[in-house]
Amino acid sequence: MVGTTQLVYASRARSAVSLSELQQINATAVERNTANGITGMLLYGAGSFLQVLEGDRANVNRTYHRICQDARHVDPTLLFVAEIREREFSRWAMRFTMLDQACGAETKALLAKLGEHANFTPLELSASTAFVLLRAVARAHANQ
Ligand SMILES: Cc1cc2nc3c(=O)[nH]c(=O)nc-3n(C[C@H](O)[C@H](O)[C@H](O)COP(=O)(O)O)c2cc1C
Repeated sequence: MVGTTQLVYASRARSAVSLSELQQINATAVERNTANGITGMLLYGAGSFLQVLEGDRANVNRTYHRICQDARHVDPTLLFVAEIREREFSRWAMRFTMLDQACGAETKALLAKLGEHANFTPLELSASTAFVLLRAVARAHANQ
């Protein structure tokens, strides 16, 4: 029996995406993920996305391949994929976060260490650093 699959990728927004486009992406993600048993988190900052998807293997793969076809972003780049025992982001069908908005002191300090929000470049992050960031944002939301 295959367990839960966790997948992390980064991409760049095609052009300066508007807030309403980001909201639209997130609304679709929440709706589809709820139907497909997917949980996760989507970060956006400085024209880049970082997303984690969790769910059963077939659904995570289908969702990721569908996301890769989306013209609203380019260069979808797989950072990490593994089987996990327990979901880490089980609270959210998809939690969207703009990194320039309040997302906790820990996240802000982390971003400063990574080179400030303006330099948020998830395509260049190691998988382990990407997780540090995703988990810090998750903790910030959990404390809200
Ligand atoms: C950055 C980004 C993240 C997305 N995240 C998800 C997601 O988590 N789940 C999902 O079903 N669709 C997500 N989408 C939307 C899909 O690309 C696609 O538009 C949507 O699933 C509807 O697909 P369909 O038009 O083929 O039915 C995302 C799109 C972008 C650009």
